[in-house]
Amino acid sequence: MIYLNGSYMPVEEAKVSVLDRGFLFGDGVYEVIPVYGGRPFRLGEHLRRLDDSLRGIRMESPLDDVQWLEVFRQLIDGTHDQYLYLQITRGAAPKRDHAIPVGVKPTVFVMCSPISPIPPEGVAAVTVPDIRWQWCHIKAITLLSNVLLRQEALDRGAIEGILIRDGRVIEGAASNVFAVLGGVLTTPPKSHELLPGITRDLVLELARANRIPCEERQMTLAEVRQADELWLTSSTREILPVIRLDEMPVGNGEPGPLWARLHQLYQTYKQHLRNP
Ligand SMILES: Cc1ncc(COP(=O)(O)O)c(C=O)c1O
Repeated sequence: MIYLNGSYMPVEEAKVSVLDRGFLFGDGVYEVIPVYGGRPFRLGEHLRRLDDSLRGIRMESPLDDVQWLEVFRQLIDGTHDQYLYLQITRGAAPKRDHAIPVGVKPTVFVMCSPISPIPPEGVAAVTVPDIRWQWCHIKAITLLSNVLLRQEALDRGAIEGILIRDGRVIEGAASNVFAVLGGVLTTPPKSHELLPGITRDLVLELARANRIPCEERQMTLAEVRQADELWLTSSTREILPVIRLDEMPVGNGEPGPLWARLHQLYQTYKQHLRNP
């Protein structure tokens, strides 16, 4: 079952107008919220980021927090690990016009899907130029550049593209990036250049709570090529160790000790949600 504009229905029966601005212009935003033990993970943080994304495209949330939670409750299926995908577009206006229409009802779509297991042996990544627009802090559904960059990574035998802008590491095509540089867990600061990842914030929070040295600062590609460890973070892939970057081993070519520590802390944190 999925949720579309106030109704629950099988996905095959869900229909959206061809005049929907999501379809015509990619005019909308989305969220991805993991669910553990039947409970949405970091729900408040995800809903605040959704509000920020909506404000960034001159929209307001069509549902309040209580209403969102009710929709999620209806869709969450049992207690296995899953994720909610939520998308809001500016809706279907009577004619195709770039200008933002007045009085159009947004289209609201939510579905819940299983989460795939994470490969603990680590993955390969490649560097790609950051060809995206300049408001990457908005979780916009307009993802054509991310799609092309991810596919380039797959074509080159890797699972993720790490985006480079002016010689700096920005983030992954669908993830944030952490590097261990001289024993310090390092990630770029929040800005318009990257998505403020909910997993990124939790990793920093867990590191600080456990007195693991960490820093938010710009990282050059040259520095990252010398990193002892490199990780990708996202809601569905948690903390993923990168063991090869552009076909060269990262560190000793295996998931590193700091990754093992943070992975453990992250699993313990998740477990609290499953068994409060
Ligand atoms: C471009 C980009 N950066 C970062 C992330 C990670 O964000 P989060 O940890 O909130 O899933 C994502 C997630 O899909 C993303 O698409």
